[in-house]
Amino acid sequence: MTVKQKLAERAAGVEGYLETCLHDRGIPARLLASMEYSLLAGGKRLRPVLTLSWARMLGGDAEAVMSFAASLECIHTYSLIHDDLPAMDDDDLRRGKPSNHKQFDEATAILAGDGLLTEAFGLMSAASIVKGLPADRVLRAIAVLAAAAGSGGMVGGQAVDMEFTGRDNVPLEELREMHAMKTGALITAACECGAILAGAKETDIENAREFGRAVGVAFQIVDDVLDVVSDTETLGKPAGSDEEMGKSTYPSLIGLDRSRELAGEYVDSAVERLAAYEGDEKDFLSALARYIVDRVS
Ligand code: IPE
Ligand code: IPE
Ligand code: MG
Ligand code: MG
Ligand code: MG
Repeated sequence: MTVKQKLAERAAGVEGYLETCLHDRGIPARLLASMEYSLLAGGKRLRPVLTLSWARMLGGDAEAVMSFAASLECIHTYSLIHDDLPAMDDDDLRRGKPSNHKQFDEATAILAGDGLLTEAFGLMSAASIVKGLPADRVLRAIAVLAAAAGSGGMVGGQAVDMEFTGRDNVPLEELREMHAMKTGALITAACECGAILAGAKETDIENAREFGRAVGVAFQIVDDVLDVVSDTETLGKPAGSDEEMGKSTYPSLIGLDRSRELAGEYVDSAVERLAAYEGDEKDFLSALARYIVDRVS
């Protein structure tokens, strides 16, 4: 089986959980429809898969970690819904379907994002309250994820992205920091939380975090590259959107070839963090890191 097939197989497991995780919560019908429209529209499910894989590799119980892993996908999906809004990237297609605000309306899209973000905290706490994982581990993981998703992480990175839009010659170091925040922070937290929930040692938690950091930046560099070289049908979102919006990206700053090279270098440093481990799960994580730069969508 290729790593792409393995990722799809694991994504299907996450999908099964996502299909019911918002039910019986008293969510008004149209709001629920809007939240599930985006949450269940497909997507690679990379972040929950990373959480489950790091947990498994470090001896954790993947079944008990599932609700926490799903919370990452809820937060990620909310970030995509808001990212597509006219006030942000103004994109009309997401995951191969009309963006949430196009299918519903702007107010509903904003609220669907708010709803997904807030439900995520219920799913995180369920790892202890329902699944019985030790409360101290879950609490620590919640703190890590809240910081990563919040204003010093993903939200902050999105704010910087908006500030940089239309600006020329953003210093490379500032672009890297923006990528590390808007995309890297959640991917880093996905890995780190998997390790924390598994009850891993501090050195393992650090390896998970540093693996995530490197993979996260590589992931956004490749996202920027694909925006230039791929097409809308393959991506399921509008190709060429970055140039149209005047976004500061790696390709616009250092060119396509150097961007690809740099993404490869980040992935190499991520894979080095796996040297201490062995077995199928390590092999999967290593292949997944490589796939992040080789992917076409
Ligand atoms: C897209 O993320 C937005 C970024 C943070 C680069 P993904 O490429 O993981 O999107 P899905 O979840 O597969 O749709
Ligand atoms: C988005 O970066 C990062 C998020 C936190 C959503 P992009 O704006 O490049 O993501 P896409 O290309 O629209 O998926
Ligand atoms: Mg954006
Ligand atoms: Mg965008
Ligand atoms: Mg993009």
